[in-house]
Amino acid sequence: MEKESALHTNICDLLHIKYPIIQGGMAWVAEHNLAAGVSEAGGLGIIAAGNAPADVVRNEIRKAKEKTDKPFGVNIMLLSPNASEVAQVVIEEKVPVVTTGAGNPEKYLKDWKAAGIIVIPVVASVALAKRMERSGADALVAEGCEAGGHIGELTTMALIPQIVDAVSIPVIAAGGVGDGRGLAAILMLGAKGAQVGTRFVVSHESIVHDNYKKRIISSKDIDSIVTGRSTGHPVRALRNNMTRNYLKLEQEGKSFEELELLTLGSLRKAVMEGDITEGSVMAGQIAGLVSKEQSCKEIMEEMISEAVSAIKKGWL
Ligand SMILES: Cc1cc2nc3c(=O)[nH]c(=O)nc-3n(C[C@H](O)[C@H](O)[C@H](O)COP(=O)(O)O)c2cc1C
Repeated sequence: MEKESALHTNICDLLHIKYPIIQGGMAWVAEHNLAAGVSEAGGLGIIAAGNAPADVVRNEIRKAKEKTDKPFGVNIMLLSPNASEVAQVVIEEKVPVVTTGAGNPEKYLKDWKAAGIIVIPVVASVALAKRMERSGADALVAEGCEAGGHIGELTTMALIPQIVDAVSIPVIAAGGVGDGRGLAAILMLGAKGAQVGTRFVVSHESIVHDNYKKRIISSKDIDSIVTGRSTGHPVRALRNNMTRNYLKLEQEGKSFEELELLTLGSLRKAVMEGDITEGSVMAGQIAGLVSKEQSCKEIMEEMISEAVSAIKKGWL
């Protein structure tokens, strides 16, 4: 049995991990190398299914199993046309943990629970948090709008304590956690762990194009922007030509379908081809704090030791 870390919480027990840090599911970015890297470093790595076909996700799961014997999860994007097939694949491949994004996973919950899968929906409101608890979720990721990618309305600071008070299952905070001070802060708000996205994009194990990593490293506090508010599907990414064009078309009142044409394949373009001008460079507000590329192990251990000393020292 591994020695418990100084920041051991009930999330560590639930997920059988050393540190209370999980890596956010990130379409295109979070494939088997990153997921295995984070799990090997003592957190919970997550493979993001995004819109990928079920056999691609199955392959990623098998490759992750070759790289680590530690637990990892799969993030299922519920709006994906392949969501129901991927929902089956995680059962067949005996994936221990599933997180879900972009909606309500109720219709899959019974089968996942019957298969012994730990189910952690991502929520951005108290109402959905309560509903997910009633449906049998084991824990929640509560995501504030500082986060990169698709977001809700509330900030992490306001959302976490309200969800913590509303449910009795453990809450994992996401959005704006990029170092040990952030980790200590969300623990103070009552969360039992943090989900980290943007900082892990800039890890050695992350397969994103160098241009993408450099863009995050060079970004300032105010460099991210939200597009798609008018369509009801807001997304946070770093400012570039794509976000400028998108916002212009939004102001002109263009339809959701016309706007979608602009973003079709745009995350892939930035992640895989390094087109950070016309592609979507999704990243959170905390990008301004990310100053170098490190291994998952370095990121994790640095965050834990910073959080421990922040808590010990106190801030007064
Ligand atoms: C490039 C990128 C892609 C993302 N894709 C997804 C996704 O496919 N599914 C999901 O649930 N969340 C997605 N997210 C959100 C992350 O899982 C995580 O909650 C978020 O990044 C945490 O906030 P942070 O960026 O401030 O660390 C994405 C985030 C980024 C930066």
